[in-house]
Amino acid sequence: MLVTRVLPGPALGRLAARHDVDVRLESGPPTPGELAARAADADGLLCLLTDRVDAALLAACPRLRAIANYAVGVDNVDLGAARARGIPVGNTPDVLTESTADLALALMLAAARRLPEGIAAVRDGTWRTWDPEWMLGSDVHGATLGIVGRGRIGAAVARRAAGFGMEVMHSGRPGDGVPLDDLLSGADFVSLHCPLTQETRGLIGAAALELMKPTAHLVNTARGPIVDQVALAAALRDGAIAGAALDVTDPEPLPLDDPLLAAPNLVVLPHLGSATEATRAAMAERAVDNLLAALDGEPMPYPAA
Ligand code: DGY
Repeated sequence: MLVTRVLPGPALGRLAARHDVDVRLESGPPTPGELAARAADADGLLCLLTDRVDAALLAACPRLRAIANYAVGVDNVDLGAARARGIPVGNTPDVLTESTADLALALMLAAARRLPEGIAAVRDGTWRTWDPEWMLGSDVHGATLGIVGRGRIGAAVARRAAGFGMEVMHSGRPGDGVPLDDLLSGADFVSLHCPLTQETRGLIGAAALELMKPTAHLVNTARGPIVDQVALAAALRDGAIAGAALDVTDPEPLPLDDPLLAAPNLVVLPHLGSATEATRAAMAERAVDNLLAALDGEPMPYPAA
């Protein structure tokens, strides 16, 4: 059994009590070659969203009987290739919903109220005095929030937004909520909560950004490739939208010379949506539950759809 990174909490102990476990102690993701070599004899794989589990890897791991992804998103796993080999794939739903929704609200507030700029001004001495016209942002309370993809996390963000007195609309699959164009043109904040699929890759491109209000902010806690970052950088530079707050980018990490980082009114975090002690430990429990069940010949309790 290969576990590609050390996980927080006691869950790996449960796995080690029942199986021979090879836990990679390195802190970065394995290269595809290292992953293939290390997983070659594994019957179970506990992998991260940074590990590409594709047809080539599966072909290199003939004994593999179970894949547990330590994430709710499974875009790093070729589900079709796993299905073709009869290998079940599990994920970690529910336990990260609330933490990720918290972070979406934090990003919304940070962008709207210019928190990074304010913090920098205190530290670099550019804050001289209280000034009626300085560092003015936008109100979150009373604003309209457009949620793209109203699954578990989108719904949790909607609950929080109600507490801020926001008007909430959502857009999902055809027939669910309002048409995406109406959401984009009507929202003051657009928050992305859809999975990364062929349909959603590049969903927020130049045309979508053009529909948004010049006063609107884009928030992404889902997956980087849902947004066309070249188009986003241009929209921020041209003032086509007021700002963006991203927890996810493409790639991760973003190279320091990526033009997006030079765009104005941009907040970027290093994919922290689920990054709390309790949530990451709970994700580990789910991943281990999935592996133990599948290796016992039982259905995974948290199968990836
Ligand atoms: C997930 O589980 O897909 C998240 O992106 C991890 O934070």
